[in-house]
Amino acid sequence: MNRGIFPPELHNCMPKKFNFVNPIIYTCIYMIKQITEKVSWVGKVDWELVRFHGDEYSTHKGSSYNSYLIRDEKVALIDTVWLPYDREFVSNLKQNVNLHDIDYIIMQHNEIDHSGALMELLDEIPDTPIYCTKKGEQIIRGHYHKDWNFVNVKTGDQLCLGQSTLTFIEAPMLHWPDTMFTYMDEGHILFSNDGFGQHFASESLYNSDVNQEELMYEAEKYYANILCPFSQMVSRKIQQILSMNLPIDLICPSHGIIWKDNPSQIVEKYVAWSDAYQENQITIVYDTMWQSTRLMAQAIADGIREADSEIKVKLMNITHDDKNDVLTECFHSSAVLVGSPTINNGYSFAIAGILEMMQGLKFKKKKAASFGSYGWSGEAVKKINAHLENCGFELLNDGMTCLWVPEADTLDKCREFGRNIVESIHSPIN
Ligand code: FEO
Repeated sequence: MNRGIFPPELHNCMPKKFNFVNPIIYTCIYMIKQITEKVSWVGKVDWELVRFHGDEYSTHKGSSYNSYLIRDEKVALIDTVWLPYDREFVSNLKQNVNLHDIDYIIMQHNEIDHSGALMELLDEIPDTPIYCTKKGEQIIRGHYHKDWNFVNVKTGDQLCLGQSTLTFIEAPMLHWPDTMFTYMDEGHILFSNDGFGQHFASESLYNSDVNQEELMYEAEKYYANILCPFSQMVSRKIQQILSMNLPIDLICPSHGIIWKDNPSQIVEKYVAWSDAYQENQITIVYDTMWQSTRLMAQAIADGIREADSEIKVKLMNITHDDKNDVLTECFHSSAVLVGSPTINNGYSFAIAGILEMMQGLKFKKKKAASFGSYGWSGEAVKKINAHLENCGFELLNDGMTCLWVPEADTLDKCREFGRNIVESIHSPIN
C-alpha cells in the first residue's frame, strides 16, 4: 500500500500490544463512545504520548485525537487521527459502521494529527467527498498527493444530513490557515478542532469527570504554546461566533475532553487569554554554569517578595524545568526576568532556545529584564536585552551583572534589583 511521503517507521510507532492481524483484540479495548443519539466519538486516546509537534511540545498527560461520527439519514465523519494509529482507527470504525455508508468526510484542519488516517480510510472509500476549506484541500494535496473528491466550503455553507444540519465556520490561523469549525444544530454542538483543545488523555469524554485544575492547566498550556501567536484572530473569531447567537451545549475539540458542563467557561477563558493575558506573577527564567546566576536569581526573587508579598514569583531553571511549562508561566506573568552567565561572548544554549520560543509566541504587554554573572567579557545581559526587545517585551532597565561569584553586597544589590522591578511593573506600560 502506497503511504506517500510518510516513512514506514511512523507505522511502527504503534504500541506492540495492538495486533492488527486480529482486530477483535483491540476492538475489545477501543470502543465507540456515544455522545448524543446521532453523534459518537470514534477517536484515539493516546496515553503514551510524551512529545507533540516533534519535540516542541511536552504532553505530561498524554493526548487524544478526537474523531466524531454523525449518523443521520446521511453519515458524516469529522476529522481522523494521527498517522501511527491509522489502521487501528479504520479497523475500529469498521466495527461500528460500514465504511461505504459514510457519505461525507469533514476535515476541519489537516495537520497530520487529524488527517493522518485519510490514506488508510480512502484506500477503502476513495470517492467519498472530503469537505474542507480551500486551504484545507491544498494542505491535503501537499501531504498526500492524491486527487481525492474535494468539496471546498466557506463560512455559512451548510450540509444537511437529514434531521440535522451542519454549518461550517472558517477559522483561519486557529491555528493553521485551513482551520474551520463545524456547528451541528441538533444537540447544539460546536466541533472546534484544535480550538478549546487540550493535550489530556482521559477515560471519560467530559470535562466534569476530570481534575479541574489539571484540565485548566492543560488548556492554558495549549493556548500559551500553540494558539498565543494568533490571539487577535482568536479574539475576532470568538466575537464572530458569539454574534451568530448559536446555542452551544457541547464544545467538541479534536484533542482532549469535551466541554459539556458549562461549556462557556472555556470560551470565557479564551476571551481572557487572547487579550494580553497576565496575572500578578513574575517569572524568573535562568540558566547557570557554576551557580552564580542561580544565586542572583534567588536574591532577585527575594527582593520581589520583600517588595510585594502578593506577587507570585516563579523561579525556573531552564535546563531542569520543562520548556512548555516555563512558557505557560511566562504567558500568565506580567513580567519575565531572564538570566544567563556569559558563555563564548553570548548567552547559554538553553536560554537561546527559550528566547526564540518566546519570540515566536508573540506575548503581549509584558515587561522584562535580564541578569547574569560573567568572568571577563560579560555580553550575555546586553544580548538578552536585545532578544527580549525582539520578543516585544518592554525592558524595565539595562539589566544586572555580577563579576565572578556574588558576595553579600552583590546579593543585596540583586534584592534591590528585585524590589525595583516590582516598582516598575506597577507603572503603566507605554
Ligand atoms: Fe491538532 Fe494543529 O493539529
